[in-house]
Amino acid sequence: MTTNMELIGRDEINDLEAILSVCNTDANEIVHAVKSNADAVFTWDYERSRTPLIKLYEKAKTSQWNVTTDLDWSTEVDQVKLALENVQADQAFFSEAVDLTGTPFEKWGEKQWVEFGVESQNWLLSQFMHGEQGALLCTARIVETVPWIDAKYYAATQVMDEARHVEVFAKYLDEKLSGHYPINAHLGLLLDDILGDSRWDMTYLGMQIMVEGLALAAFGFLHQMTSEPLLKQLLRYVMSDEARHVAFGVLSLQEYYKELTDAEMLERQEFTFEAAVRMRDRFLQQEVWERMGVDVKDAVKLVMVDEGRKEFQNILFSKIVPNCKKLGLLDRNKGWLRQRFTELGVIQFEDWVDTGEEYAMLDEVSKDREAAAVA
Ligand SMILES: [Fe+2]
Ligand SMILES: [Fe+2]
Repeated sequence: MTTNMELIGRDEINDLEAILSVCNTDANEIVHAVKSNADAVFTWDYERSRTPLIKLYEKAKTSQWNVTTDLDWSTEVDQVKLALENVQADQAFFSEAVDLTGTPFEKWGEKQWVEFGVESQNWLLSQFMHGEQGALLCTARIVETVPWIDAKYYAATQVMDEARHVEVFAKYLDEKLSGHYPINAHLGLLLDDILGDSRWDMTYLGMQIMVEGLALAAFGFLHQMTSEPLLKQLLRYVMSDEARHVAFGVLSLQEYYKELTDAEMLERQEFTFEAAVRMRDRFLQQEVWERMGVDVKDAVKLVMVDEGRKEFQNILFSKIVPNCKKLGLLDRNKGWLRQRFTELGVIQFEDWVDTGEEYAMLDEVSKDREAAAVA
């Protein structure tokens, strides 16, 4: 059996030194290439046979929206004021239970916490933007590699969706926020791993199930928390698309995984675990601590013991775990992944609704269109 060292480059999941040793070494890089030798696959079977994917494709065609005209870009965004509101509402970052005595944060006042709030937002939205570009590349890849015509059709609509998502986050960062961050190294490694794998179903597993599953939960959380109307609306629109994308992963892999052997499934389970750890590591936001001039190790140590932060990180897995269960990934091979998700503290979401079931409910764009047609 593959060891943790081989999967995630360390034996102990919470090995802080090892986590922090993964950092972006070239912040000025402009072009980043990933080698892969995936086959571009034609299919001569044009028969439409996969009903769930046909339905999804029809929905995608009528749920397109336009970044330029469907959002109110005249909205004024005062990032500092918003950060200050959070600080005053005692939502600066750490939960109250964390003792900050003797830590770099002991002397932090309102000014530092507001600055940190602004930097965190710049960081988070930058990571969303980079992740969206990852989705754009992965889905373009799926158009080429998946052997089913219905999946090629659907994936083509997702490519357009992802271009729109990169566009919307880039525009928001440029016009409303105050700075960009380069890609977080853990996220970068994960995207490289996904794109470097030549098997078409691995692209789906890494992107549609893991990265987009996490994004859907993260967007949902931020959508609830933010009082900024433009961000709220754009997140709601992105989520409408994202739910379809995750459903695309679930509905496609469900069929394919039924035919896989235990050994083949184990490879998928291991890949899922690796992706889960990388995504959790990324949310330690090491780059923000660095920019704030505090010792990164001291800061991350506190993040890792803060129960409130842990809860937030765990909720990010609330879409991933039920979807993995539906795909048989939790329980094959004597529950290999179930055990890993238990160690990561996220198994409690296994019976939450899976995205194959709920995507239509999240379709805000169609609801808006219908309301506009009635009015
Ligand atoms: Fe997206
Ligand atoms: Fe997506």
